Amino acid sequence: MNRKIALIGAGNIGGVLAQQICINQLGECVLFDVVEGVPQGKALDILAGLPVVRSNAKIKGTNDYKDIEGSDVVIITAGIPRKPGMTREDLLDKNVGVIKQVAANVKQQAPNAFVIVISNPLDAMVYTFQKISGFPTNKVCGMAGVLDSARFCAFVALEMNIAVTDVEATVLGGHGDTMVPLPRLCKVKGKPLTEVLSAEKISKIVERTKKAGGEVIELLKTGSAFVSPALSALTMAESYLKDQKRVLPCAAYLNGEYGIKGYYIGVPAVIGAGGIEKVVELKLNPDEQKLLDTSLQAVKSLVDQIHL
Ligand code: APR
Repeated sequence: MNRKIALIGAGNIGGVLAQQICINQLGECVLFDVVEGVPQGKALDILAGLPVVRSNAKIKGTNDYKDIEGSDVVIITAGIPRKPGMTREDLLDKNVGVIKQVAANVKQQAPNAFVIVISNPLDAMVYTFQKISGFPTNKVCGMAGVLDSARFCAFVALEMNIAVTDVEATVLGGHGDTMVPLPRLCKVKGKPLTEVLSAEKISKIVERTKKAGGEVIELLKTGSAFVSPALSALTMAESYLKDQKRVLPCAAYLNGEYGIKGYYIGVPAVIGAGGIEKVVELKLNPDEQKLLDTSLQAVKSLVDQIHL
C-alpha cells in the first residue's frame, strides 16, 4: 500500500526529511510551505537525485494545502527556529500563530493522519496542535525525546570512545533547559553508566545534552540543528507506518501517567499503527520524579500563556 507523508515547512528540517523519506522509499512525499518556490525547488532537486540512488519515490513541492489531502503522516516544522541567544520559549508567540493555522488546514485535508510536531517550543506546540485540530491525543505527538536521547548516547560514546549503538539512554521531560536525562537508566552494553563513568564526567555529559541544541546554534549562527531532528522524526514516522511498535521517547499526552494529567511532555511511548499505543512508565526515584515535576512546571507555564 502506498503511504503519503506530508511535510508542513520546507525549511532546513523539512528538506532533510524529504530527502530521507525519498531515499528510504517510505512513501509518497508532499513538501508544503507558505513561501513560493522553495518547496517546489527542493522537491525538484531531490527528484533529480533519486535515479542516482535507484529510488522510485514520488515527491511534490507545493503551496496548496489541497495537495496534502489524505496524508497518512504529517510532520510539522513550520515556524521560526532559534538564533544565537534565543531560548525555545522566545519562539512561543510567533509559532503559536503558525501552528494554529497549520492545525486548521491539516484537520481539513488529512483528518486521519498521525501527526508529529517538531516546531518549538515543542511541548506547547504539540498541545496547541491537538487542541485546535481536536485530533485524538494518541494521533498527535512531538519529536524531542528521540533527539535528546540520541544526543545523550552520542556524548557518552564520544567520551568512552565506543560505538554509539552500544549505548542506550533516555531523556524525559520538556524539550528545554529543564529536560531530564536519566544517567541511572543509561546502559553501556548492559552496564549502568554510573558504574563505568565518574560522577563528574556524567554530570558534564548531562549538561552538554541539555544544551546541545544551543551549542549547534552558537556554531551555525543562522539557524538551529536540522539533520538530527529530521532523522529522529523519521524514526517515529517509520515506527507508525510499519507498525514497528518501537519504544521511543517523545512528547506524548499524559492521562495520569507519571502523576501528570492533561499535558504533553517527553516520556517513552510505544509507536505503532495505533499511533501512540502506550506510554511506558519508568520507575523513577524521588530525585528524578522531582526533576520531571520541575520540567512539567516549565511546560505548564508556557501552555498557560497560550490562549486557545
Ligand atoms: N505555514 C507553513 N510553513 C511556514 C509557515 C506557515 N504558516 N510559517 C513559516 N513556515 C515555514 C518557513 O517558510 C520555513 O521554510 O517553516 C519553515 C521553517 O524552516 P526553517 O526556518 O529552516 O527552520 P527549521 O530549522 O526547519 O526548524 C523548524 O523546528 O526545531 C524546530 O525550533 C525549530 O521551530 C523550528 C522548527
